[in-house]
Amino acid sequence: KNVRVIGAPTDYGANRRGVDMGPSAIRYAGLAAQLERAGAAIGDAGDVPAPRAEVRDPDTETFAPGRAKFLRETREVATRLADRVGDALAAGELPMVLGGDHSVAIGSVAGSARDADIGVVWFDAHADCNTPETSPSGNVHGMPLAAALGVGAFAGVEWANAAGLVADTVAIVGLRDVDPPERRAIDESGVTAFTMADIDDRGITSVVDDALDVATAGTDGVHVSLDLDWLDPREAPGVGTPVRGGVTYREAHAALERVARRDCLRSLDLVEVNPILDERNETASLAAELASSALGRRIL
Ligand code: ARG
Ligand code: MN
Ligand code: MN
Ligand code: MN
Repeated sequence: KNVRVIGAPTDYGANRRGVDMGPSAIRYAGLAAQLERAGAAIGDAGDVPAPRAEVRDPDTETFAPGRAKFLRETREVATRLADRVGDALAAGELPMVLGGDHSVAIGSVAGSARDADIGVVWFDAHADCNTPETSPSGNVHGMPLAAALGVGAFAGVEWANAAGLVADTVAIVGLRDVDPPERRAIDESGVTAFTMADIDDRGITSVVDDALDVATAGTDGVHVSLDLDWLDPREAPGVGTPVRGGVTYREAHAALERVARRDCLRSLDLVEVNPILDERNETASLAAELASSALGRRIL
């Protein structure tokens, strides 16, 4: 497999500095060496240009009704990233996007879905199904799934959802912090959602197999979006919105090994790594290791 690494060093989607250094931290943690252990060939395409939050106006009023901070900047990066991801796929490579905050997934999903019908598996503590109308924070990293599905104010927004992702092929895994309007959005959209309670009841591999069934049904491949806050903060402290009670180190590897075994991975995001909040870069190291499991690294 040829992997094309694409950095997307954004932070304004999270309204918190530091997550823009995620791509550097994940590379520094030895991403290339980890991927080689999975037998992958790596090309690093560098980073997409991302505006700096300090020189931009959050411009929260431009996307009425509701709030979406830095939405113009989000669009700029998502549009560039979608092109880079689409180019990698057209060249027969597997795009691996290093965030940055989770708003970059709007671009990676748009690029991955461009010339294909895709499924999505979203590993996250959060649903990321807010819209500018419902968001409690105005932070776009809480909205990328809604944007990609064209929900609420994102309906018909071309840069976010022209490639036509459909909710029937989307599964979220690991939920434990869902805003009340997101609960409604999940119900109404038809996205499949697995909570931590499902993982407790049934075990991670069974839940992930079900999520992969959803995402592979009638699709050409699966985009996996891995928010590092999916893991328990004890394993992954370097994130901006930690939530207790997440998956363990072993569950996370087991999950991504199921992805590899299904041989359906089309594109991958590793997002929300914030090295400022991390301990000796361990969250970035974990991201690199999990990418390697997703690509089929075996113990023996
Ligand atoms: N639900 C909260 C919000 O919308 C938190 C979202 C966190 N998202 C993330 N990608 N870390 O503001
Ligand atoms: Mn499509
Ligand atoms: Mn999250
Ligand atoms: Mn997220």
